[in-house]
Formats: sequence, structure tokens, C-alpha cells
Amino acid sequence: MRFRIPGAFLPAAGLLYLVLPPIARPQSDEETPKQVFQRVCIDCHGMEMIEGKHYRRELWQQTVQQMVRRGARASGGDVQTIVDYLAANYAPTKIHVNSESAAELQLDLPITLDTASAIVRYRQEHGGFKSIDDLEKVPNLNPAIVRENQDRFVF
Ligand code: HEC
Repeated sequence: MRFRIPGAFLPAAGLLYLVLPPIARPQSDEETPKQVFQRVCIDCHGMEMIEGKHYRRELWQQTVQQMVRRGARASGGDVQTIVDYLAANYAPTKIHVNSESAAELQLDLPITLDTASAIVRYRQEHGGFKSIDDLEKVPNLNPAIVRENQDRFVF
């Protein structure tokens, strides 16, 4: 017995092949880490959200994961690439705690503008910070954040 293929089948199958979208788009090997970062992160907001921030790797990791929960479209590999990119290019810098403005302090540390303003106010009222101990007295400033960043403060 011979299995017979209906005459119309082959052209129809060919058409189906053309019409169906590819199941998985192959990832481009040519994207640089910066391009991966730009593709994923410059979507909902612009660079102004990232520019000027100086976080430790763990904080970038948390931030990127938070963005994925908010809807950023990144594969597991993209997340790793972006965290590496940010950790290298937006790493912590020294904090000149006696001269930086509240806006600058807010970019240096995971604190709100209110807390950054409290640092500036304390500095003005007490004639400048001399040590980590002084910083720990600022109202609302979490002492754990001060201790985690103690090597960065310049008095
Ligand atoms: C789906 C939309 C979306 C995408 C994509 C996105 N973000 Fe965000 N991002 C937000 C929203 C919403 C906020 C909150 C804005 C606010 O707090 O006022 C935010 C805030 C931020 C902040 C400031 C707050 C913080 O936690 O420090 C940073 C930094 C940031 N995003 C980085 C990134 C990075 C890095 C990426 C790429 C991995 C990214 N974002 C992609 C939606 C997005």
C-alpha cells in the first residue's frame, strides 16, 4: 500500500513555513555590553536615572533585578552583562562629605534627597564632619549605610 500525500499539502506546508514567525530569535553576538545595557535600560526612562549614580555591585544587582520585576525585558544573560557593565562603569567614588551638595550626596549613596539634605544641614549646624562618628549622628541617616561606605568618606 502506498501512502499518498494530497497534492495540495506541499505548497500549503511551504506557505505555513513562511507565515509562522521564528520561534526564537537568535541572540546577536555583536552586541557590546554597553549596547545590551542601552537596549534594556533606556526604555521606560532615560540615562538621567542612571547617570551620576555610583553603586556597589550588590546594589546594581538589586537595582537591575528590581527593574526586571518592573518589566524590563532582559534574559538571564542580559542581566549579568548589565550588572557587570554598571559595576565597572558606575562604581563607587569618594564622597566629599563636607563639600558635596545634597543632590550629589543623594547620587553617591542609597538615600533620599531628604536624608541628603539632613546631612548638609547637620554639617552647617555643627561646622563640618570630622569622622564617621559624626556622620552617624545625622538624623534619619541609617548608620548601616554609613558603615558600609566608610572607606569612601573624605573629611
Ligand atoms: C519597565 C520599565 C523600566 C525599565 C525597562 C527600566 N526601568 Fe529603571 N525604573 C523604572 C521605574 C518605574 C523607576 C522608578 C522611578 C522612580 O522611582 O521615580 C525606575 C528607576 C530607576 C533607577 C532609580 C531608582 C533606584 O533604584 O536607584 C535606576 C538607577 C534605574 N531605574 C536603573 C535601571 C536600569 C539599570 C535598567 C536596565 C536594567 C532599568 N532601570 C530599566 C522602570 C524601568
